[in-house]
Amino acid sequence: MRLLDGKEVSAKIKEDIKKEAAEFAAKTGRKPHLVAILVGNDGGSETYVASKMRNCELVGFDSTNIRYDENITEEELIAKIKEINKDDKIDGLIVQLPLPKHIDPEKVTEAIDYRKDVDGFHPINLGRMQRNLPCFIPATPYGIMLMLQHYGIGTAGKHAVVVGRSNIVGSPMSILLARNSNPGNCTVTLTHSRTQNLKEEVLRGDIVVAAIGKKNFITADMVKEGAIVIDVGINREVSTSTKSGYKLYGDVDFENVSKKASWITPVPGGVGLMTIVGLLKNTLEAAKGTIY
Ligand code: GUN
Repeated sequence: MRLLDGKEVSAKIKEDIKKEAAEFAAKTGRKPHLVAILVGNDGGSETYVASKMRNCELVGFDSTNIRYDENITEEELIAKIKEINKDDKIDGLIVQLPLPKHIDPEKVTEAIDYRKDVDGFHPINLGRMQRNLPCFIPATPYGIMLMLQHYGIGTAGKHAVVVGRSNIVGSPMSILLARNSNPGNCTVTLTHSRTQNLKEEVLRGDIVVAAIGKKNFITADMVKEGAIVIDVGINREVSTSTKSGYKLYGDVDFENVSKKASWITPVPGGVGLMTIVGLLKNTLEAAKGTIY
């Protein structure tokens, strides 16, 4: 078994981004600028946004975190998004999900100018991704593709099984793996909560992407010998043995699945770090105006 090491790959790619950000700043007199809007005080979201902001600073981007009380109305939030859309000094805008129940995430996503949509959630970016056109690719699937590319893992002709069909991970991942691109060219099965005989489906996977959000859901009996296993799960549990007060678990039973896998991502230290890289790369592209 070999580890798909998010620490190593993310550090290397972040060095490249840092150099490009410095070149951008030298040329334009300003840094790439990411704005993240956070509504309410969901513990997970707070951690993710803080990490995104910290990583922006690390690679030489400007970053702004706009925070709203959970009582903000949908209209107020969308008015702010429209203001940011017009601001030439802001390159990328993300609205951290989940949002409070009274705010429709689809309306919010569509309010963001697709040229600033560095999350890649806007339907224009989704459609362009499917067609292999210039677009922002959602950060987690993008990070996973960069990781496969870094290790030179050939995916063409392989059977990929994606578990979970979320808009953020599973659904775009299935499109990317099926695309005529490298990595890509897989035969893809997208499974979800209504899939019958899930174990048999997952057992067919030369590549398995686990994006369910349930601790240790993928067990060794579900995985083919020699499979490439990508664990997207970040399941937080309260723990007294860690400094943060939380311990993270993946969607994959790493201890046992790693004995069968040819390659596997750890949690933490795997996909989570690559998600940040995907977001930073998108923000740099937004600043450079590559996505028109
Ligand atoms: N919530 C969980 N993942 C994400 C993400 O990648 N972007 C945003 N905006 N919210 C999320």
